[in-house]
Amino acid sequence: MAVKKVGVLTGGGDAPGLNAVIRAVVVRLAKEGISTTGYLEGWKGVLEQKTQELRPDDVAGIVGEGGTIIGSSRTNPFKNAERDVPRILDSLKALKLDALVAIGGDDTLGVADKLYKAHKVNVVGVPKTIDNDLNATDFCFGFDTAVQRATEAVDSLVTTARSHRRVMVVEVMGRHAGWIAAYAGMASGADWTLVPEKETDIDAMCEALKRSRAKGKLYGMVVVSEGAKLAGGEVLQTKEKDAFGHVRLGGIGEELAKIIEKKTGLETRHVVLGHLQRGGSPTAWDRVLATRYGLAAAELVLKGDWGKMVALKGSQIVAVPLSAAVGAPRTLDMEFFKLVETFF
Ligand code: F6P
Repeated sequence: MAVKKVGVLTGGGDAPGLNAVIRAVVVRLAKEGISTTGYLEGWKGVLEQKTQELRPDDVAGIVGEGGTIIGSSRTNPFKNAERDVPRILDSLKALKLDALVAIGGDDTLGVADKLYKAHKVNVVGVPKTIDNDLNATDFCFGFDTAVQRATEAVDSLVTTARSHRRVMVVEVMGRHAGWIAAYAGMASGADWTLVPEKETDIDAMCEALKRSRAKGKLYGMVVVSEGAKLAGGEVLQTKEKDAFGHVRLGGIGEELAKIIEKKTGLETRHVVLGHLQRGGSPTAWDRVLATRYGLAAAELVLKGDWGKMVALKGSQIVAVPLSAAVGAPRTLDMEFFKLVETFF
């Protein structure tokens, strides 16, 4: 089948590098005479047939721009499948699209996989999430930028913590997986790092903070993943669930700071980094990875190799079945976390 027209969408939480992927897909396909249409705001744009033509000129100069020029949303057409899946299929038909490149995490690519399997939609996936919790790839683009942002923030907080002889608790993103916390904790030399994958011995942490103070260290630094658990479980910002059934996490930093202050007697403050980790321009590493992913996704389109996701294995970009990537989150490698724990 000769491909003439391809759709592209970005879904879920945005991640630095999305524009680099879009640019690479558009430019590579244009070289073969294939045009690209962007669906606006993820699956919402497909449902509502909201689109934007993407020519090479439209994507020039966006490789280092954060966010996504075509917008994103957490829309799940399978939440009300009877109503919305036919709308998705009609929308693809109406635009005479031969294929769709979906750039997203578990939720967005889960939808793509279902459309491929149940409705034979020609899809190709690109792995995106700052949380780095997608299976079948070593790294998602966006993660490196989030770690860099978090590390720089912790570095800045060290000086004020030291001036005031305080403990600082820094809450970072990571809903189901502690990748950001573990990497930023290691990179910034935090005294303790808490992740969703491992229960923390709070008393041991407080003792360690007191010991290090007694030895002369004038401040304490604790990095905590938003998805880490305290005695009462996860700390929620709201119990309301999004279209994919996720609750909004947040607040563990504040709770943890209170506990630390009470147990250690050391003055403690907390900072929530939140969306600062996702905003702004991608690191060079993320720009390169995202560009390689976009080019590889375009190659899959040219080969007609559907139902696959591009992935990083070691230093190579490979293609894996979408189904291998979605379903359950890829949690933190505990061998790596042991290295982080060496410094506790
Ligand atoms: O999925 C990525 C992520 O950044 C998570 O780390 C975080 O919990 C969530 O998105 C926040 O989502 P929203 O932008 O919808 O508040």
